[in-house]
Amino acid sequence: MARTGFYVWVTVLIALAHSTIGRELLDQTTCPPPGFDSAKPFDLLSYIDGPWYVQKQVPTTYTPENFLYCVRANYIPIAGAGDLSKGVYVNNYSNKDLVNGLAVTTSKAKGGFQLYGTVPNAAIPSQLQVGPYFGDNGVTTAVSTVSAKMSDTAANYWVVATDASPSDPNFSGYGWAIITTGPPTIKSGDGCRTGSPDGGLADVAQRGFWWFTRQQTPPADVLLALRAKSLELGLDLGVLQDVQQVGCDYTDAP
Ligand SMILES: *[C@@H]1O[C@H](CO)[C@@H](O)[C@H](O)[C@H]1NC(C)=O
Ligand SMILES: *[C@@H]1O[C@H](CO)[C@@H](O)[C@H](O)[C@H]1NC(C)=O
Repeated sequence: MARTGFYVWVTVLIALAHSTIGRELLDQTTCPPPGFDSAKPFDLLSYIDGPWYVQKQVPTTYTPENFLYCVRANYIPIAGAGDLSKGVYVNNYSNKDLVNGLAVTTSKAKGGFQLYGTVPNAAIPSQLQVGPYFGDNGVTTAVSTVSAKMSDTAANYWVVATDASPSDPNFSGYGWAIITTGPPTIKSGDGCRTGSPDGGLADVAQRGFWWFTRQQTPPADVLLALRAKSLELGLDLGVLQDVQQVGCDYTDAP
């Protein structure tokens, strides 16, 4: 009897210790995670030198769950190739309900409502703003002015991690990137997520977390690297959903 009682106590003590440790770990999760920042150094021209294929993302107002097919983003300098002074056209693309289903895009040239990307602070090229623009279509306006006019409606677009660094002497471009709508301020799962603490529409509108790859269907190690980096950054992976890329035909995508 005494022996059984002893084991019961040991078990209880271990359980208590575990729950205390568990609580301490949870309490350490402050959001955003300390030091959370966008990628530095960062080469925006290299970043936009080809389309990005979305492998996973949190569903948003613009890309709800039934649009998580063939999601791609392509950024084209407004002032011409290699010139970022006027920002970029943001040409998003996705299909409704199925692979190669109804195509939706933010490219005006392809019948969509054009979105723009700008860099409010040229010293921090990994922090962009993306949104509509109600001025002169951005074409004749300097980037800072576009940002000022966009600021009411634009969303933060931070490139928070990439596979390669332009400071590496062997740098030959980016293979993957993690994007968030700024710092993830809300505790979620085992980490933090973006969005609004007010909940509701504001929350959905301000959510944003994407896994981008240069390859339409990248090998498994690329996805593992995106996963490891996202965890390291303190992001909650539970909010992500898969985007279908196999079989997507991008012939008519902007
Ligand atoms: C376009 O995609 C970017 C991320 O690639 C996102 O920030 C933006 O909200 C999207 N907008 C629309 C209208 O799809
Ligand atoms: C650059 O690439 C060369 C050849 O592949 C390699 O020997 C060298 O270690 C690389 N340097 C760095 C800094 O990665």
